[in-house]
Amino acid sequence: MLVLGVESSCDETSVAIVKDGKEVLSCVINSQIKIHEKFGGVVPEIASRNHVYQVSMVFKQAFIEANVKPEDIDLVAVTKGPGLIGSLLVGLNAAKTFALMYKKPIIGINHLAGHIYANAIEHEMKFPCVALLVSGGNTELIYMKDHFEFEIIGETLDDAVGEAYDKVARVVGLPYPGGPHVDRLAHLGNDTYKLPRVYLEDGSYNFSFSGLKSAVINLHHNAMQRGEDINVNDLCASFQASVTEVLVRKTFKLCESLNVKNIIVAGGVSANKGLKERFNLENNNRFNISIPSIKYCTDNAAMIGVAGYYHYLKYKKFDDLELNASASLELE
Ligand code: KG4
Repeated sequence: MLVLGVESSCDETSVAIVKDGKEVLSCVINSQIKIHEKFGGVVPEIASRNHVYQVSMVFKQAFIEANVKPEDIDLVAVTKGPGLIGSLLVGLNAAKTFALMYKKPIIGINHLAGHIYANAIEHEMKFPCVALLVSGGNTELIYMKDHFEFEIIGETLDDAVGEAYDKVARVVGLPYPGGPHVDRLAHLGNDTYKLPRVYLEDGSYNFSFSGLKSAVINLHHNAMQRGEDINVNDLCASFQASVTEVLVRKTFKLCESLNVKNIIVAGGVSANKGLKERFNLENNNRFNISIPSIKYCTDNAAMIGVAGYYHYLKYKKFDDLELNASASLELE
């Protein structure tokens, strides 16, 4: 079964062709990072316009690289939300146009489900599992009894973890998106600054990162005012140590309480080397931990194609061409 995946929820225009939910025949990603870098974040209107410029070429390239004809496609899977509404609409309308032209069925896919299903490309998804979803807009602990059954057990009460990474990066003068830069510098430094670990007193599986972010900002600001040097590598290492300790320990604690052995890590921050290292360090062979390789951690259309495949297997249902985008779509 050949699924055409289309993703445009933020600043990546991506089209992929995936065979049988596993084999990625092509996954073309046109990133706008260079365009938005100078603004220190994604500018929604500029992102939508660039999707419009790029989308036809990205479609074409995906078919060239996969060596597949449009007629060969069995199903179109497209991100319907959450994300920037203008950006989402470009990919959605391109996918609907393709489906209409070539008379192909279409399924709208939740972007967050896409991140989780990125794990099915290189690993087998085993149930029940706990998914730790960590991205620029989300930090969630999700219990999955089976395919496409998402129960959100915990989430951030303020900043998403990727957002905290990007803000800390900006304060210490690193370019956008800051996560990969903080990760790189963290590996050159040591956890020497005393930063809080926010576990929350309510015994829940929720997260809070705004206090940690403010602690880093204040520490940096105070040192600047006193004319003291900050060791940026150590500060990044200390921030990363605090974040990864909380994420890993809460995930393990939830798995223990639910007696779940399988863990899936998903979303842009799952590319973080420190997070992977800490999961491995603290695991002691207790859990099967699945993390996608870096190219499938951040936004890409292969994960949408894979999610579309499993959605079809489970529900055997399609959307019609009334399918619309939703900026604040939640996992159902
Ligand atoms: O999932 P994603 O591509 O976009 C959405 O938010 O949906 O995630 C982007 C986020 C950004 O905040 C970026 O800084 C972060 O993922 N990120 C990382 C790393 N690579 C990307 N954060 C920490 N360490 C990384 N290596």
